[in-house]
Amino acid sequence: MRQAGRYMEEYRKLRAQHDFLALCKKPEIATEITITPVQKLKVDAAILFADILLILEPMGVGLEYSKGDGPVIHRPVRNGKDVDGLKDFDVESELSFVYQAVKRTCQELNDQVPLIGFAGAPFTLASYLIEGGGSRNYLHTKKFFYNAPEAWKRLMARLAKVIGEYLNCQVAAGAQAVQIFDSWAGCLTPADYEHFVQPYTKAVIDAVTPGVPVISFSTGTAGLLKHIRAAGGDVIGLDWRVNLDDGWATVGHDVAVQGNLDPVALFASPQELKTRVAEILRRASGRPGHIFNLGHGVLPETPVEHVVAMVDAVHELSAR
Ligand code: CP3
Repeated sequence: MRQAGRYMEEYRKLRAQHDFLALCKKPEIATEITITPVQKLKVDAAILFADILLILEPMGVGLEYSKGDGPVIHRPVRNGKDVDGLKDFDVESELSFVYQAVKRTCQELNDQVPLIGFAGAPFTLASYLIEGGGSRNYLHTKKFFYNAPEAWKRLMARLAKVIGEYLNCQVAAGAQAVQIFDSWAGCLTPADYEHFVQPYTKAVIDAVTPGVPVISFSTGTAGLLKHIRAAGGDVIGLDWRVNLDDGWATVGHDVAVQGNLDPVALFASPQELKTRVAEILRRASGRPGHIFNLGHGVLPETPVEHVVAMVDAVHELSAR
């Protein structure tokens, strides 16, 4: 994850010339950014270069990627009136640049590796809408569902609908699997997840075109795994805070898993890194249905040659 990003010189060069949203909106450039890490790292899948927050821009909330502070929503949603004021938009036409990038990328990949499309999960997107950006304690988000549960449900239902349509447009354009990012679900109690979040994530997963594998990603959710599994998906993400075998036993061996290397392990020596890769593979014990991945995104300071070494180690140690 974040296999295309600032740790790569090729990306930094393009980024120096364009702001982030411009990169996402130019299908030719988004295609190039998607494909470069596939060639350079020799990973087994491409993930579309885009961002989970793109879907929020046509809602009229003022999305900006500001230098240093990460993404900002200039007009956050704080009450029922704000929810009802969100713009309805045509998911197919307003985000057509994303599907054009999918189409182009598939043509260029020419079936050498599959392309993963993606979207944010309703909760993580709602938290950005409500907080106005990243957050430490999700205070406004939690206050929203404590104090205005009806408006919360309206917001989550609306998000679930557009996310489902958005994923299916990516599938129609050629994405062979889709990943749903609920990056911030780990801040929730199991009961709040079950009541305020799970039904909407489930609605998104149920809406995905039948036959297309769905990867359900989250972080910090070792205590929520049973509920996350219940929301559906063919592959459940396990971050590094849980041992792969324990997490897999919790979600059940009838579902695939992905993970679970700590992204910071990429800063260790290639030798130490290989030991850690081997440990994860040992815990997967050769069982079919484990996709090796990081537990979260590649950090901007990561040495690119360590990422290459990790991919090589995975291929070497898991060869059959
Ligand atoms: O290679 C890939 O993984 C595909 C591209 C991708 C990006 N964002 C590009 C990006 C994907 C899959 C995402 C998902 C995403 N975006 C998530 C879910 C995954 C996760 O990391 O938890 C979230 C929460 C976001 C929201 C977001 N977008 C944040 C918090 C930031 C700032 C992060 C930072 O490191 O500064 C972004 C911007 C962003 N999205 C960048 C990239 C390459 C960095 C933008 C830049 O060039 O400055």
